[in-house]
Amino acid sequence: MPVSELESAEALAAAAGGDEKRAYVQRIFSQIAPRYDLLNHLLSFNIDKAWRRRAIASLDWERTPTGTYVDLCAGTLDVAAELAARPGFAGRVIGADFAEPMLRAGIGKAPREVVSPVVADALDLPLADGTASGAIVAFGIRNVTRLDAALREIYRVLEPGARFVILEFTTPRSVIVRAGYHLYFHQILPRIGALVSGHRTAYAYLPRSVANFPIEEDLAARFRSAGFADVQWRTLTFGVAAIHSGVKR
Ligand SMILES: C[S@@+](CC[C@H](N)C(=O)[O-])C[C@H]1O[C@@H](n2cnc3c(N)ncnc32)[C@H](O)[C@@H]1O
Repeated sequence: MPVSELESAEALAAAAGGDEKRAYVQRIFSQIAPRYDLLNHLLSFNIDKAWRRRAIASLDWERTPTGTYVDLCAGTLDVAAELAARPGFAGRVIGADFAEPMLRAGIGKAPREVVSPVVADALDLPLADGTASGAIVAFGIRNVTRLDAALREIYRVLEPGARFVILEFTTPRSVIVRAGYHLYFHQILPRIGALVSGHRTAYAYLPRSVANFPIEEDLAARFRSAGFADVQWRTLTFGVAAIHSGVKR
């Protein structure tokens, strides 16, 4: 199947960040929720699990092990469950996502007393100012329509000294790596994704949305504009993903 057939005009517009993006993203994740975990681990050769663990290690939750943490764009709650299972973690995790079927697919991964799934938009979190001890988002922030507004909203809910961590795909800089990455991400992955999920366009949207996401230096600058201090980033696995972090002043 040619990739062009997998790329509906709607998916392309959504990936470019048009007005359709919010509704499109909410709909596709609701539709692919039952197969999301399987495809995630299959398409990433299970590396996604190690990446999530590294992102959690950057959250500095040990600073306040009894605090309230936000797993933003939580999906099927993999990050929330992994954080909840860390030895010594005695806090609570709010898994916020606007696609309810994704949250439902994750129920059972962690004790209910520790992880609370909440249907909420990243741009309007149901938390009072300065009440979260940390926040993390894995593979979600590139899907949010208004990135700067989302960064400000996260900043609002964090307490001073709390860290925000983003784990996200990025485009590798090395020409050689980029050639293999492009072949896999833009040609092979959309076909496997369509086959296994039964959704024609969702996995064509994925590489497009990564291509349209800011590069590391730009994202770091936007962290600083939102107010974050101690902004850092490092790339993972030949530069196909990156972990960003910043601290609320
Ligand atoms: C690729 S999944 C990532 C899920 C999970 N964090 C993980 O590590 O597998 C992206 C998630 O972001 C959610 N999402 C996208 N935009 C959102 C928004 N504005 N507010 C809340 N959730 C959003 C989607 O519903 C989807 O579940």
